[in-house]
Amino acid sequence: MTEKSEPRKILVLFSSPRKKGNSATLANEIIRGAESQGAKVGTLRLHGMDISPCQACYACQKKDSKGCAIDDEMQTIYPKLVEYNTWVIASPVYWFTMSAQAKLFMDRCFAFPAYSKKSLENAFVGKRIGIAMSYGDTDPFNSGCVNALRTFQDAFNYVGAKIIGMVYGSAEAPGEIESNSELMACAETLGKKLAGS
Ligand SMILES: Cc1cc2nc3c(=O)[nH]c(=O)nc-3n(C[C@H](O)[C@H](O)[C@H](O)COP(=O)(O)O)c2cc1C
Repeated sequence: MTEKSEPRKILVLFSSPRKKGNSATLANEIIRGAESQGAKVGTLRLHGMDISPCQACYACQKKDSKGCAIDDEMQTIYPKLVEYNTWVIASPVYWFTMSAQAKLFMDRCFAFPAYSKKSLENAFVGKRIGIAMSYGDTDPFNSGCVNALRTFQDAFNYVGAKIIGMVYGSAEAPGEIESNSELMACAETLGKKLAGS
């Protein structure tokens, strides 16, 4: 709970095409932990949404910009990003980094300041981030997971958002990660932490 007992609002962005995949399983455990502490959780499945790549027009960076020039489903996400102060990004490792769906989302966050009516230096300050990742290799470095985690760290550090925690582990078949009870407990704990102040 936040000050004045306002429940924490957490937005979970699933970015795997597999609804019952490993990154989703981890994210669902984060949700379970967060809801057990009274957090209100919203979810979005990026896969299947119409989200184009950033076209580098820089319309979003112009003074008094109204936002991103691309008219697609990202326009429905921006208001949620303003509304929710805590974001969880769940992604599989694809080719040694995050999924394309997650990367599209990250690139389009370039326009987020225009929606929050703040500068790039200030728009993300106060945002709290959780990351959930899964990979097929047995090693987080060889798999490329660390590469993706570093990308999230560098990006959110650059804009002043705070990464509260990251859970990640190895699994191949959908949902297989559930048998890693230690990791699932870490995911639940991260959920509880994200729900706290
Ligand atoms: C297109 C594709 C690329 C992948 N690339 C990697 C990779 O670079 N490193 C790795 O360890 N696993 C790789 N994997 C395996 C997935 O990361 C792994 O199965 C993961 O648990 C899937 O998560 P999900 O169930 O949430 O989709 C790849 C899988 C696919 C389909």
